[in-house]
Amino acid sequence: MIITIDGPAGAGKSTVARSLARRLGFMFLDTGAMYRAVTLSAVRHGLDWNDAEALVRLAGQVRIYLDDDSVWLDGEDVTDAIRTTQITSQVKYAANNPGVREQLVAQQRATVEGKSVVTEGRDQGTVVFPQAELKIFLTAGPEERARRRLLDLQARGEEITLEEVLAKQNARDASDAGRDVGPLVAAADAVHLVTDGHTLDQVIAEIEALARSRMTAADATGS
Ligand code: DC
Repeated sequence: MIITIDGPAGAGKSTVARSLARRLGFMFLDTGAMYRAVTLSAVRHGLDWNDAEALVRLAGQVRIYLDDDSVWLDGEDVTDAIRTTQITSQVKYAANNPGVREQLVAQQRATVEGKSVVTEGRDQGTVVFPQAELKIFLTAGPEERARRRLLDLQARGEEITLEEVLAKQNARDASDAGRDVGPLVAAADAVHLVTDGHTLDQVIAEIEALARSRMTAADATGS
């Protein structure tokens, strides 16, 4: 079974997807981490952001490995290094590059081959796994998302204000929604969930119930 969770930054996708995967005994795939890992590698190699071809070549060369808790880039644990504000503001070069997306989409499909997975990102239900049995589009209001992100960044020791987080978030939302390939958009058959005013535990429980009822339905029809 494939469950996709798409939506904007800060809606709670990672927390929800990771926890749901654990409860269901499924694999968890954080596809944003893959775009971040390519970006980190590009920064370290001093790549020129105007050289789109070089970025595609790099995406084909780097070895990205994800497990439930960590992200590895060419054998190094980069779990924290990919989440700085620098990488967050530069990740658009990888995310908006069609050649990079092609490489990472192929890698995402290969990673989950034959497995049950909860995968999260922007294009999982639309482009990568259009056949997914359950698609969730998770959102929250911009201020709520910025507040969550601020807490997250402060916990990592970054000094940043709510206004700065909100401005960067707005820029990233516009970039994610506006790109030609794999834009942030809900699949036609996605279930829309708004997380404002709900605890993430409530949201997880709601998606788990949906997943279990679809599993039961699939068992009953033998599909
Ligand atoms: O979910 P995140 O913040 O870690 O994602 C980092 C960036 O990667 C985000 O700006 C959008 C992009 N992304 C994407 O384009 N497609 C995905 N499937 C996942 C993330």
